[in-house]
Amino acid sequence: MALFPTSGTSPGTSPGGTSSGGASGIRTGVAGVGGLAGRAAGGQTFSPLAGITQRPPLSGGLPAASLGGKLQISNDEFVQLRDFIYAQSGIFIAEARKYLVENRLNNRIKALNLKSFGEYYYYLRFDPNRREELTKLFEVITTNETSFWRNPPQLQIFQDKVLTGELDKLRRAGQKKLRIWSAGCSTGEEPYTLAIILHEVLKSEISTWDIRITANDLSEAVLAAARKGVYSTYALRTTPRDIVTRYFIEEGGNYRIDPRMKRLIAFGPINLSDKMMLKRVERSNIIFCRNVIIYFDEEMKRQVIESFYDNLLPGGCMLIGHSESLHNISRAFKPEYHAGTIVYRKEG
Ligand SMILES: C[S@@+](CC[C@H](N)C(=O)[O-])C[C@H]1O[C@@H](n2cnc3c(N)ncnc32)[C@H](O)[C@@H]1O
Repeated sequence: MALFPTSGTSPGTSPGGTSSGGASGIRTGVAGVGGLAGRAAGGQTFSPLAGITQRPPLSGGLPAASLGGKLQISNDEFVQLRDFIYAQSGIFIAEARKYLVENRLNNRIKALNLKSFGEYYYYLRFDPNRREELTKLFEVITTNETSFWRNPPQLQIFQDKVLTGELDKLRRAGQKKLRIWSAGCSTGEEPYTLAIILHEVLKSEISTWDIRITANDLSEAVLAAARKGVYSTYALRTTPRDIVTRYFIEEGGNYRIDPRMKRLIAFGPINLSDKMMLKRVERSNIIFCRNVIIYFDEEMKRQVIESFYDNLLPGGCMLIGHSESLHNISRAFKPEYHAGTIVYRKEG
């Protein structure tokens, strides 16, 4: 899978900066899913390409460039596609990552029998099958790298401080209802990890609570894998052994998540660039959005973080990825500094 961290510059400008952010983008955690590109995807829920009914003529200017059978992307084609992807998902692809767009989309263009990136752009905008293709495009350009027990120090703080504090507060108020939002949940490892931690903390008391973890992603393919809940040992590489033993069922070398965890989670598609969709998410006590906003430019980061702030209940907390920051993005939260992590609290 591709990995396209932002350079922090907006489309329409000419960003020169690059961002490291790790780059293999290769993940093998989900059993049977080595790479998600090209997989069939389900229904479409992204922002509609409203108001576009007629296909304009192709520019016809430059001939399609091809080197050794591989199509090359021109600067104009790159800018066109980059801005389109940004408008549809908020994911900003720095110019230095142009070659990744070229590499990753070659197969899609060939599969559709198209001759250039320009034709592909018009297909995405005007073809009757454009919605299905948009889903596939998202699968190609996003990275879904994730794992169970990702960032253990942060999860320890979540368990000991955030969750325990929130549960005590709710018990005292006589409201045993807890809502957690895992935004950008990829193939499910994050929300399942949270479900396991909830079981570990609440034990038999869990049956007396009304708990829901809302788990969303842009990609239908990763959500399908999440709902299936079968993982390879790679996905469990940082998970304590006894947790694996107690919460997974071994099946032919893979691991199936305990169905009790599934019952706590509602998986569904959400595009974080769609403000209206975000408004419809039930208000949360805790939000996890880890390793997602790194792909957005500053404007999109601000918009998404503001939506999370509005969604959080007073006193609620947000956790982001260890390489992500709210610097220059939001001053609305009260940061709480712990060893290895910052918890962002909405005061109230
Ligand atoms: C690197 S994974 C992180 C998964 C998990 N949160 C973790 O930290 O392990 C990033 C996920 O964000 C999703 N994503 C990227 N842009 C998104 C958007 N605009 N709306 C919803 N999800 C998005 C990707 O599809 C991908 O599954």
